[in-house]
Amino acid sequence: MSSLLSDLDVIDRVFEHIDRNSTDLGEDVWYEPTKNYSCPERFQAEMKLFRHIPLPFCPSAALPKVGDYVARDAAGVPIIAIRGEDGVVRAFRNACRHRGMKMADGHGCAKALVCGYHGWAYKLDGRLDYIPDAHGFPGFDKEKHGLVPVTAAERHGLVFVTQEEPVSDGPLADYPEVLKPHQELVSIREFDFEMNWKLFAEAGMEGYHIKVGHPKTFYPYGFDNLNVVEPFGPNSRVTFPFRRIEKLRDVPREERKIDGKLTYAYQIFPNLLMAKLSRHTTVQFAEPVSPSRTKYTNYYISNDPIDGDAAALAEVKKDIDYVSDTGVAEDRDITMEIQKGLASGANEHFVYGHFEAAIVHFHKVMNELMPKVGWEE
Ligand code: FES
Ligand SMILES: [Fe+2]
Repeated sequence: MSSLLSDLDVIDRVFEHIDRNSTDLGEDVWYEPTKNYSCPERFQAEMKLFRHIPLPFCPSAALPKVGDYVARDAAGVPIIAIRGEDGVVRAFRNACRHRGMKMADGHGCAKALVCGYHGWAYKLDGRLDYIPDAHGFPGFDKEKHGLVPVTAAERHGLVFVTQEEPVSDGPLADYPEVLKPHQELVSIREFDFEMNWKLFAEAGMEGYHIKVGHPKTFYPYGFDNLNVVEPFGPNSRVTFPFRRIEKLRDVPREERKIDGKLTYAYQIFPNLLMAKLSRHTTVQFAEPVSPSRTKYTNYYISNDPIDGDAAALAEVKKDIDYVSDTGVAEDRDITMEIQKGLASGANEHFVYGHFEAAIVHFHKVMNELMPKVGWEE
């Protein structure tokens, strides 16, 4: 069970804030050293942490059928997650046991994993099944040379991978059902940005910048600095209400529905941002490549079933395009400028105030966990 507020309680809290011209406030002001965004040793230690906790890897909606797979790097290690004949999602180090060739890349569906170099074939559960001209390998023990597994867990519509002995339950310490089984994958987009992974994550964790940062996109529909902020476990949820939420004042409390009246932005520790918007949920996985470069894989998942309905699909796509091409593009541009600002040396610290409580929570969790993978300030 998660400790998050119910939708009705969130709506009540939003109305209170509108009436009082207030917002949720954190308790602390936080100073984060800017070297934590640029130091290569710090970056390596962060990636070590990623390998030692259940790391969000992909949505279940990307693997609906037997044989569906997602293959990409996680904390610098090529990983493949694949749904087996028994319906269970497993994950493996994405390297052939012959001479290490990558077994698959990106998204697809396979009956077996066949290596593209010499054709060694593995079953969906990772067992090595077939070696062409096996007589060339006398004494080789096939049983012992399946793909090397890593721990995979499928929870509430997400797949998590734990590569090394876990130092913490990470995001699974308190993880709510955000994605429901009926939601369908509509599209996938990949990005490669020159920015530290934490900078872009921070842009999704506060609403203090809505009026100045999004004057023509989000602000006309939303509020400036009016959010419900809920840390839960190492994660957090920030509610961004739309102005049209006012319409719910006339609806009896128990009948109020949040649909299209607010956005929930979930920061699932450490690398996943999930934003539930009007008609779709953006599920964005950050894959840090270096202190100043991050790849993103964005899955856009419909909130309601589409079932082949072309009109419904068009509406969802419109929703996706609108959000990604406007407000999110602004956040990306701002973050890239901050990345350049890091190099200016102007700041030894960034400061996060009472309006940026979800970011403060994130850094507190990082500070708690980093020593567990041997990081010392
Ligand atoms: S490297 Fe995979 S079959 Fe040779
Ligand atoms: Fe923003």
